[in-house]
Amino acid sequence: MPDLKELIQSADWKTEKHVPVIDAPEKVKKGEVIQVSVTVGKEIAHPNTTAHHISWVVLFFLADGEKFPYQIARFEFLAHGASAQGPDTSSVYSFPVVTCSFKTDKPGTIMSSSYCNIHGLWGSSKKITVE
Ligand code: FE2
Repeated sequence: MPDLKELIQSADWKTEKHVPVIDAPEKVKKGEVIQVSVTVGKEIAHPNTTAHHISWVVLFFLADGEKFPYQIARFEFLAHGASAQGPDTSSVYSFPVVTCSFKTDKPGTIMSSSYCNIHGLWGSSKKITVE
């Protein structure tokens, strides 16, 4: 039986357009507000059409030594060009680029997952240290 974690794909974001690229500082001060952005298709743009698009991005933080992650944010992209006239007719498209903020007193790992309606689940992570 397939396991969900085996379905989360990863790759080098410079050559794979589905990878959620996490931009965040590598080192922060305890309690400092950390600004995080996630971009899908940072180097190679992902298609953004009614038929083929990124549906959502989610962000977690796993503190070092802890078992369970904390969900920081979840974003859904709901405009994909469709209108009453049919697919790709509205000219309105949301883009899979998001920014949010959080704080932590503990070092750990920011994890992101994204979902393409055709090519499934993708993931990446970024370690941050706390002074
Ligand atoms: Fe895709």
